[in-house]
Amino acid sequence: MGFPVDITTPAASSAPASGPPPRRWIPIRSLAERHRPRILAHLLALPEADRYLRFGYAASDAQIARYADLIDFAHDEVFGVFNRRLELIAMAHLAGLADSREAEFGVSVLPKARGRGYGARLFDHAVLHARNRGVDMLLIHALTQNTAMLRIARNAGATVQSEGGETLARLRLPPDSLRSHLDAFLESSAAEVDYRLKSQGKRSDEVIDGIGDIKQQMTDNPRRSED
Ligand SMILES: CC(C)(COP(=O)(O)OP(=O)(O)OC[C@H]1O[C@@H](n2cnc3c(N)ncnc32)[C@H](O)[C@@H]1OP(=O)(O)O)[C@@H](O)C(=O)NCCC(=O)NCCS
Repeated sequence: MGFPVDITTPAASSAPASGPPPRRWIPIRSLAERHRPRILAHLLALPEADRYLRFGYAASDAQIARYADLIDFAHDEVFGVFNRRLELIAMAHLAGLADSREAEFGVSVLPKARGRGYGARLFDHAVLHARNRGVDMLLIHALTQNTAMLRIARNAGATVQSEGGETLARLRLPPDSLRSHLDAFLESSAAEVDYRLKSQGKRSDEVIDGIGDIKQQMTDNPRRSED
């Protein structure tokens, strides 16, 4: 698809020389085959308007299920942010990595978790991993009305071309480096530790919830609980 008109200058070029302030660290995990059901649950939780923004059409549950089914974990990279209840609240899909120097970025953040920088952090994370996989051009297809997504792309220095209601943002990536590999390693190790801690926390939360349920039953039904 071509996007010949309205070539916008990247916002980053007019940013102050000191650059934007560093973003808060967010644990981002690499997702694998075993996470497919959670990916599906995350995408199904998106309301209709967000499905339209994410996929370019108001994807039905069946179309989303097919998309989730077709994610190729062997070639693509999928990243996620889990909350303390281990719900996948944000995810990004870096597709087209096999034998290609271009990759496409897609992202979604659940409405309740928006505006906290997850979308931008997932983008930075995808950039790092794409560089480390030898990608030199990142593509973002977005609807022109998608201010938040286009802001993320422009902030990173992408060139944005719009045609009609669609926009293609292109971000040229620097080559990988020892630093980019080290950063990716440190990020995934820290995210793994964070996930394990949340996992243990969730187990203790479940025990606490279970005790709460038993106490509630004893209060509601004191005679039965004495049996
Ligand atoms: C696009 C999306 C991923 C952004 O996620 P998010 O976590 O809320 O975004 P962030 O908090 O990282 O914000 C990123 C930037 O967008 C801006 N922004 C966020 N929401 C915005 C909105 N509704 N309108 C305008 N700007 C917005 C933020 O201020 C920030 O810019 P800044 O760093 O210059 O301040 C999220 O809105 C989403 O999931 N939308 C539905 C799916 C979708 O559109 N996917 C993208 C197509 S692939």
